[in-house]
Amino acid sequence: MTVDLDSPATITIVDDEPTMQDVLVRAVRSWGYPCQTADDAEQALQLLRIRPTPLVVTDLRMPGQGGVWLVRKIHENWPQVGIVVVTAGADSDAAMDCLNAGADRYFLKPLRLDEFRHALETILHTVELEQERERYRCRLEQRLHEQMRRVRRTFLSGIDSLIRTLEARHPYTKGHSLRVRHYALRLAWALDLDRRQRRHLSLIGKLHDIGKVGVPEDILNKSGPLTPSEREVIREHPVTAERILSPIIRRPEILAAIRGHHERMDGKGYPDGLRGEEIPLFSRVIAIADAFDAMTSSRAYRHAMTPLEALQLLREGAGRQFDPELVQAFLLMHPHAVLPQLQASALS
Ligand SMILES: [Fe+2]
Ligand SMILES: [Fe+2]
Repeated sequence: MTVDLDSPATITIVDDEPTMQDVLVRAVRSWGYPCQTADDAEQALQLLRIRPTPLVVTDLRMPGQGGVWLVRKIHENWPQVGIVVVTAGADSDAAMDCLNAGADRYFLKPLRLDEFRHALETILHTVELEQERERYRCRLEQRLHEQMRRVRRTFLSGIDSLIRTLEARHPYTKGHSLRVRHYALRLAWALDLDRRQRRHLSLIGKLHDIGKVGVPEDILNKSGPLTPSEREVIREHPVTAERILSPIIRRPEILAAIRGHHERMDGKGYPDGLRGEEIPLFSRVIAIADAFDAMTSSRAYRHAMTPLEALQLLREGAGRQFDPELVQAFLLMHPHAVLPQLQASALS
């Protein structure tokens, strides 16, 4: 076996017969193709693992595993490698097996060198074209991914400003999405959610109310109680959000979480009336963060509650509206000053 890792080889020549190997080596070198050699099929495979070449020329009858086995192995491991089999006339059946196993050509001994050379040139050219096509495909795919990422970023920053505009129209919700994201992420840390889950939750927190762009301003800003039909319009916002985001957000779990952020544990939520663990975990997290922020922010018809009051209402809603385990984790996140008061009120 010869392998010189410093100089590139184009052809691997496999032959157990030194004279034949020498003839082949001299011929291909004289045509300008650097080569490496192996004396049998196992050695050839080992050599190709260290340094694959675009073309292999192999004898059929060799000690150990023969040429058919080698052709099959090469085809399995490196389907793009060209294979030429050189055989004595008596082996024509085995040569057919080689073609079936993936060889490109076979030649009978004695070799007609001009024909052999032409075949090598053609096969190498084809392999080169294949490789070029593959490289082109990879480059194209990479560019497409970059483009997709850019479109996604542009879309999300557009959505970002849309949310800001939406919240600015309504003084009572200014900064709501970012605060919901903040509380949801704190809860995610407390629940030990992994980095990927926290990234998803961050996006969900920011986008959860985007569907409110479909709600007329007079309904959104109404200070008095809503009529049943106005309430219906508001209740459409999770589905509207899903519809707006589905062309650009491919992850179904993010879309499902946004759709489900107004579901309740007792099944009385909307839009699907899911109950308990049917509600996605991310929706259950957002529901708590959302409610906490809504309660601790001022509204046209009421002042903001204190965090303690809001936490008490969350605790009262645990099991009916909110996931009780998540409420528990949310309560534990709050400063020690708040917890004793909660515990005291629970005892009284
Ligand atoms: Fe909402
Ligand atoms: Fe919200």
